[in-house]
Amino acid sequence: MIRTDRVVIVGAGLAALYAALALAPRPVLMISPDPLGQGASSAWAQGGVAAAMDPADSAAQHAADTLRAGAGLVDPAVARLVTSQARDHILHLAALGAPFDRDGAGGFVLSREAAHSLARVVRVNGDGAGAAIMAALVAAVRAAPSVQVAEGWVATGLRLQDGRVAGIDLALASGSVPVPVAAPAVLIAGGGSGGLYAVTTNPARIRGEALGMAARAGAVIADAEFVQFHPTAIACGADPAPLATEALRGEGARLVDADGTRFMAALHPDADLAPRDVVARGVFAETQAGRRPALDCRALGAGIMADFPAVAAACARAGIDPARQPIPVAAAAHYHMGGIATDQDGRSSLPGLWACGEAASTGLHGANRLASNGLLEALVFARRAALSIGRNGPPAASVALPDPAPAPLPDPALVARLRQAMTAGAGVLRDAQGLTDALHAIAAVGAAQPGSPQLANMTATATLICAAALARRESRGAHCRTDYPDTLPTGRRSRMTLAEALALRPAPEKEPL
Ligand code: SIN
Repeated sequence: MIRTDRVVIVGAGLAALYAALALAPRPVLMISPDPLGQGASSAWAQGGVAAAMDPADSAAQHAADTLRAGAGLVDPAVARLVTSQARDHILHLAALGAPFDRDGAGGFVLSREAAHSLARVVRVNGDGAGAAIMAALVAAVRAAPSVQVAEGWVATGLRLQDGRVAGIDLALASGSVPVPVAAPAVLIAGGGSGGLYAVTTNPARIRGEALGMAARAGAVIADAEFVQFHPTAIACGADPAPLATEALRGEGARLVDADGTRFMAALHPDADLAPRDVVARGVFAETQAGRRPALDCRALGAGIMADFPAVAAACARAGIDPARQPIPVAAAAHYHMGGIATDQDGRSSLPGLWACGEAASTGLHGANRLASNGLLEALVFARRAALSIGRNGPPAASVALPDPAPAPLPDPALVARLRQAMTAGAGVLRDAQGLTDALHAIAAVGAAQPGSPQLANMTATATLICAAALARRESRGAHCRTDYPDTLPTGRRSRMTLAEALALRPAPEKEPL
């Protein structure tokens, strides 16, 4: 057992980096599976950070849009808290070197995204906000003497002592036996669950493992059923699917079918800028009907793609010229509203464990996250969790990690089977039979490699998503049940442990594999 007085941060995306800086001067051990700055969803975020920076805007209006998009499940106190702190975090990021786009007068250039009542998304180089903010934070963390980064390591489990989280198990990302590390506090900031689905915009590593290890330790998980599907992943056969940011529709790009007919106007008064769940279902229906939905950017003018270099590069890689042809799109798993249930200081239900970023569920997003509120929530709760853990602690030497014996990674064929099961059973449209089949397939995947903690973390999260979706007998926000199409008059957030989720799995009628 390695013992350290460092606070352990699981993950190395925006929430993890920001929390490490906010904890300074307290010594931190950050667990980063990839070289710092790579492999995290945050770096792929195209839209930016939602914040009321325009004098015509207000935190109250931003909170109202957040509540409306969340379909009755947003915690109003959390929405007020987050939106009122947004401006301060943008200014702090700018001071750390995030090169936000500015107009001639030095004001922030703001993008418009779906379900925002006005342009409110602070951006960098059009669609490069995530990468640029991450670059600024990585540089700051590299320069921070309090932060030790363990690159090439993953957390595989939490260690409990007397009902309290007392450390973690670490393994080499390339596969090794676990190394136990005792630590005074653990902050999980390890990303979402999109990669549990066969069609996703998330990096390959983001497969619900952070949530799963907390669930396996007994933490309460909130709103697990709410998975957001992005309507305009570029349908070019790549895994993960590259994103065509919603900001393109804010600039006037339109969704069309194979005949060039617009289909969103018939589905919602806000047409192409309707809430993301509505647009995702519209695109999914077109795909299912074989009408090959696409995003037509041609009317935006030849120069428009220069303002969206990440989209332009993804199109070029796929052999698509958006100036001449609509971009083929599909709905793809993009963001998990559910996560480790936390209070307003990022505390989980387990003493000694905090969570922030996409792995957490704070109550901000409800049943449907408002675009570009994800990075904002990560910033606000990373700082709050750091302050709650405490910036004062004893000095701590660097942790000397051993060279553990190799051990197998999750079998890629089993991971593929898990992802197919999630897309088939817990995707854009759900029903009891599909969710039950998915639960059985998940159990079979887990049973096929019982010695893999990483696979157990993935299957724990998949089980929670499907069980919570089975238990929610209504349609609300991103959770759409074809067998329960109505929305109940009163909305309730869900809270579930892994034991409760497993108890909801119906006994199989036949062998699923
Ligand atoms: C986008 O740019 O369309 C995605 C933004 C987000 O997911 O918040």
